[in-house]
Amino acid sequence: MTQVFINGARDDLNVREFQSLDHSIQELILAATEARKQAYCPYSNFAVGAALRTSDGTIYSGCNIENGAYATCICAERTAAVKAISEGKRDFVACAVVAQQDNGFTTPCGVCRQFLSEFVNGKDIALYAAKPTNLPLRVLCTSVLQLLPNGFSFANGK
Ligand code: THU
Repeated sequence: MTQVFINGARDDLNVREFQSLDHSIQELILAATEARKQAYCPYSNFAVGAALRTSDGTIYSGCNIENGAYATCICAERTAAVKAISEGKRDFVACAVVAQQDNGFTTPCGVCRQFLSEFVNGKDIALYAAKPTNLPLRVLCTSVLQLLPNGFSFANGK
């Protein structure tokens, strides 16, 4: 079977047109796109924006923040999450990640998958990966638990 690629993602994955998504999801992707503009990434030159929506409808966004001591870099997803959690909000329902890679979508790194999975709370967190440009905009629709099957959790019992 011929593999079809759209914006670098296999077409049999759940890739949708931006315009076809709910307004609340579009809004979340646009918030991540906006947050990406604040990225501090002089070492990788790879800017990422993320936005998390909590169950009360609030959006918390963040960007990646790098450091000359590379190991201390923080990803956009965790920046958004720590902003929300430290404001008392951790009931996440959806996350958007926006970055520009010509040949693929940017999905959260392993550390961020584990970090976010702590807060799925018996449910899951929808995850939308998109690019800031490349119209017509296509969006990879997945979830934290799809990206981290069988991840570690103390909920599994000590
Ligand atoms: N990065 C993110 O912020 N989120 C991701 O999903 C992938 C990677 C950042 C970390 C680092 O600042 C840069 O992108 C290159 O890895």
